[in-house]
Amino acid sequence: MANIRNSKMIIILTGAGISAESGVKTYRSDTGLWEQHSIEDIATPEGFERDPGKVRAFYDARLDAVRAAEPNAAHLALSRLERESQVPVLVVTQNVDDLHERAGSRRVLHMHGRLGAPVCAGCGAGLPGERLEGQPPCPACGGQARPDITFFGEQPKHLEEIAEALSQVTIYISIGTSGEVFPAARFVRRARKRKARRIEVNIRRTRITNDHRELRHGPASIEVPTLVREILAEQLELDRQEGAGPDGQN
Ligand code: APR
Repeated sequence: MANIRNSKMIIILTGAGISAESGVKTYRSDTGLWEQHSIEDIATPEGFERDPGKVRAFYDARLDAVRAAEPNAAHLALSRLERESQVPVLVVTQNVDDLHERAGSRRVLHMHGRLGAPVCAGCGAGLPGERLEGQPPCPACGGQARPDITFFGEQPKHLEEIAEALSQVTIYISIGTSGEVFPAARFVRRARKRKARRIEVNIRRTRITNDHRELRHGPASIEVPTLVREILAEQLELDRQEGAGPDGQN
């Protein structure tokens, strides 16, 4: 097990599975979003070109669903880890909901963007309010509103910051992601190159399970609080050992 004291960074990659128990739909399950909607129509630049109104309605409906949801014990546990850990913690999320922030996490990078942040499809300028439908033309260029969400084929966000963090990682945790989408699915390989401790939390095996050393198979709302308690306890134990004199006495 990696020595916590020398850990420079705990990185947590989250996917839709961490929000599933908050009632927010995942993508690739039998009731998932990509079962009910076509990725080509909803999550590609071509689909937006073809029918921007359909795309705007889809993401406004997802915003309403997220507004009606609450962070669950897994989100709250990650916020506790960030507050109490002696090692810096970074959440890299593929999710576009704001449940990490509403649970109190501060260091969160949304690599696929966020709901509730309309931007101009023409010049990228931020537009007022949270909703896409009913937005007037962009005051700067007259363009139309699109979600600030990374469509398939577009460049994910914050990749440089994520690469910098991965160069220091010693504990890497994947929570609730199928590992189907790159580059997020490859981050664990960089963590392995760093000889980081690699833990996967999921309710089933995934295509990246074998890249991890430890598997916590169960619902995130149960497994993540347990894992956070263990990591914090390890840090305290290390403190105690380091605080003890050479013969182990204080
Ligand atoms: N606890 C833990 N894991 C869960 C739970 C739960 N309660 N419920 C579901 N899961 C797991 C599923 O087993 C699955 O592995 O969460 C994962 C969800 O996978 P996806 O639906 O593929 O979501 P995600 O991995 O986040 O998708 C990545 O794909 O479509 C794009 O941009 C979209 O960000 C998304 C990306």
